[in-house]
Amino acid sequence: MHSCKKAILLFTSISWLPVSKHMTSSPPAKKACIEMKIGTHNGSFHCDEVLACFLLKQLPTYKDAEIIRTRDQKVLDTCDIVVDVGGIFDPSKNRYDHHQKTFTETMKSLLPTKKWTTKLSSAGLVYCHFGKDIVASILEKLLTDPITETIFDKVYEHFVEEIDAIDNGVNQFDGEPRYQITTTLSNRVRNLNPNWNEENADEMVCFLKAMRVVGEEFMDRVLYYKKAWLPARQLVVDAIEKRKETDPSGEIMVLSSGGCPWRDHLFDIEQEQNISPPIKFVIYADSNGNWRVQCVPVRIGSFENRLSLLSEWQGVRDDALSKLSGIPGCIFVHASGFIGGNKTFEGAMEMARKTMKDRDSKAS
Ligand SMILES: *[C@@H]1O[C@H](CO)[C@@H](O)[C@H](O)[C@H]1NC(C)=O
Ligand SMILES: *[C@@H]1O[C@H](CO)[C@@H](O)[C@H](O)[C@H]1NC(C)=O
Repeated sequence: MHSCKKAILLFTSISWLPVSKHMTSSPPAKKACIEMKIGTHNGSFHCDEVLACFLLKQLPTYKDAEIIRTRDQKVLDTCDIVVDVGGIFDPSKNRYDHHQKTFTETMKSLLPTKKWTTKLSSAGLVYCHFGKDIVASILEKLLTDPITETIFDKVYEHFVEEIDAIDNGVNQFDGEPRYQITTTLSNRVRNLNPNWNEENADEMVCFLKAMRVVGEEFMDRVLYYKKAWLPARQLVVDAIEKRKETDPSGEIMVLSSGGCPWRDHLFDIEQEQNISPPIKFVIYADSNGNWRVQCVPVRIGSFENRLSLLSEWQGVRDDALSKLSGIPGCIFVHASGFIGGNKTFEGAMEMARKTMKDRDSKAS
């Protein structure tokens, strides 16, 4: 059969990929000849099973699988793998539901210092069991390559965990949010469901559209970590190494490329190398050849800084700022104090130094 030949070819071409437990459980080429079925629930769909189905379809075994959406147990029983429905979590039987009371699985990090506590949804479950194979094949790396392991972890932390948490109703923090966030991937998937009063909407068409949206973002994220995030690490390592030449305090680092993603790396490297005192400011040239001084946040994603630029400079610009700060050539300090600009490197450095001096004078 034509489809069968295609399946065999596929298996030969990726034979360098270490196969997961699932794939070795039966002879792959033979299994791929049979139409595989992925079962999930019907009715409203959510980001978690949409991503779970997308992920499964990246595996050679399920590449051409049909997605069956039903809550009919007899039909689910005929599926080769079932996600997000059925009440069973049993990887040996390819059953990946997370709704049962007894379910408490979380993702295990490869790093001993990291511990995730968010309960998995069907997205995290499938990612946990098959994600490393998928990430390795997208990256064109071996399963055992440290880059695969690092990016597998990062993509959980910066993509999948959010979906797990939202699906399981875990708030991001305690207390009342100050405003609504309505554009997360989970929100967007929910919005792709047919409206209640749309009578003839084809749910499967909507589901497949959601899979494309989620899948594209997942792929982009994995490739971003490979192409942009990873190469930035060395720049941050270098900047941290030279920080005392930049300023004896060790609290200012100069990045050779301003647009690079430095935050994650800075936090990781500080921890790995026990850097103390923590770095407060990052200085870099912007695209116009001016210089920026940017504050390091207290943690990733926080708008609070380890040390903000002087509060009296915040929201002030140009000559008024130069006059106020006594630093010529100032361009701006953002109203929230997390970033500022000067026409020269020395000017940007001076803005950081004056801020530290002010802190030190207040401390003593
Ligand atoms: C889901 O599938 C079951 C079984 O096929 C059916 O009885 C039910 O009406 C469907 N529910 C929705 C919301 O489509
Ligand atoms: C800030 O930039 C201006 C314009 O280039 C420059 O004249 C000034 O000296 C800079 N500030 C410092 C402290 O170097």
